[in-house]
Amino acid sequence: MSKLNIVILAAGKGTRMHSNQPKVLHEIGGKPILEHVIACATALKPQKIIVVYGFGGEKVCEAFAGEELIWVKQAEQLGTGHAVQQALPHLDVDANTLILLGDVPLVDAEACKALIEKANNQLAILSFIKSDPTGYGRIVRNNQLVAAIVEHKDATEAQREIQEVNTGIMAVPNRYLTSWLSQLTNDNVQGEYYLTDIVALAVQQNVTVMAEITTDEWSVTGINSKSDLAQIERVYQTRIANNLLQQGVTLTDPARLDVRGNLTCGRDCELDVNCVFEGNVTLGDNVKVGANCVIKNATIKSNAQILAFTHIDDAEVGENSRIGPYARLRPGTILQDDTHVGNFVELKNAQVNVGSKINHLSYVGDATIGKNVNIGAGTITCNYDGANKFKTIIEDEAFIGSDTQLIAPVTIGKRATIAAGSTITKNAPADALTFCRAKEQKSIAGWKRPQKIKK
Ligand code: UD1
Ligand code: MG
Repeated sequence: MSKLNIVILAAGKGTRMHSNQPKVLHEIGGKPILEHVIACATALKPQKIIVVYGFGGEKVCEAFAGEELIWVKQAEQLGTGHAVQQALPHLDVDANTLILLGDVPLVDAEACKALIEKANNQLAILSFIKSDPTGYGRIVRNNQLVAAIVEHKDATEAQREIQEVNTGIMAVPNRYLTSWLSQLTNDNVQGEYYLTDIVALAVQQNVTVMAEITTDEWSVTGINSKSDLAQIERVYQTRIANNLLQQGVTLTDPARLDVRGNLTCGRDCELDVNCVFEGNVTLGDNVKVGANCVIKNATIKSNAQILAFTHIDDAEVGENSRIGPYARLRPGTILQDDTHVGNFVELKNAQVNVGSKINHLSYVGDATIGKNVNIGAGTITCNYDGANKFKTIIEDEAFIGSDTQLIAPVTIGKRATIAAGSTITKNAPADALTFCRAKEQKSIAGWKRPQKIKK
């Protein structure tokens, strides 16, 4: 196979997005539009990927810092041909170049591969049939052979009837591309240097131009507006849902699932409606996720159940654990196997060992909890004194009575019991009952409740 260079055109302003953010940084499935295009390009294993950037460009470069990309600035957007000209100094003489558009996120690597294979001695373009071709460059054929691409604004009435349109994706040997680009002029209605004019130049030079027609319109659809963005997002999510179904994941409703990142599922997982998965989420076998959960950067091990309305962010859940409903696991939370975290419980940077339970209405932050600990309803680790954070340690088999405040730093020893309603400020010894409440319980006989004052 010949060498491959890929040029991604991403300098357009994206005016119709009505946004201060560069168009290609808007997200599909939680990843910038351009990231999808770069992923497709990378899958084709090229020698080089050159990204032509313009508007808001520095932000775009920063978003992909650390990746092996060549960035080329197109200071003024003088047309797609002019954009590719900016990449010329980086192109290898003996390579073919694939041109991709930075705003077409569902671009299909297989279709690109087919195009590249055809581009060894000729110009290969990807086209599609559009029932309303308005705005697109038309593929003008002469006895089946491609003769030219004419932009909508430059087209005659007859040419505007043509429904075969240019996707903007093409593959071309660099030895031709270099010379054709140098011959482009901006003598057209838009006063732009059109990349598409290389078709006519090829024909003049007797180089065959072939158009490969794709039927997957979404894979060539560019994003120009928020409405395009929303539409493509749905298509992308449908594809993800279908892949999950194919792998054997049960989805209560494939239309009510959002994956904004990468979701990996083991066997027999079940996902109820309206769940959002963000970043990298891994579910083991037989994990059940209830309705309306938001799970981000998390590992949920086999047989765990995440009940409805649970939020998990940067946390791990061990096997056979049961979380929620209405639980919140914040960053740094690591739950070992067989743990239970119940409703209205918030955990932050808490490491909870095997078999421990925090079932109701608690805040446990900056804490290490041993095995088989039971934390009663309404327990609060007071980890913050207003300036600094401190740690709470609860050792194996301790029992914390309801409505207890553990003022950190503090350690509760093994098998210690803390009486309900205690405010614990000093370490509690192992194997003992510790309590710290108001000294005595008083009753005032005949005490009257306050009455509402009549106006
Ligand atoms: C282009 C094609 C048209 C095709 C259509 C498909 C040309 C002349 N026309 O038209 O045949 O049907 O795409 O959507 O190529 N860009 C730059 N620098 C520029 C101009 C554009 O980087 O100076 C980038 C844009 O960011 C975008 C891509 O090139 O990713 C296409 O540009 P756009 O302005 O959308 O081209 P169209 O006029 O739609
Ligand atoms: Mg366009």
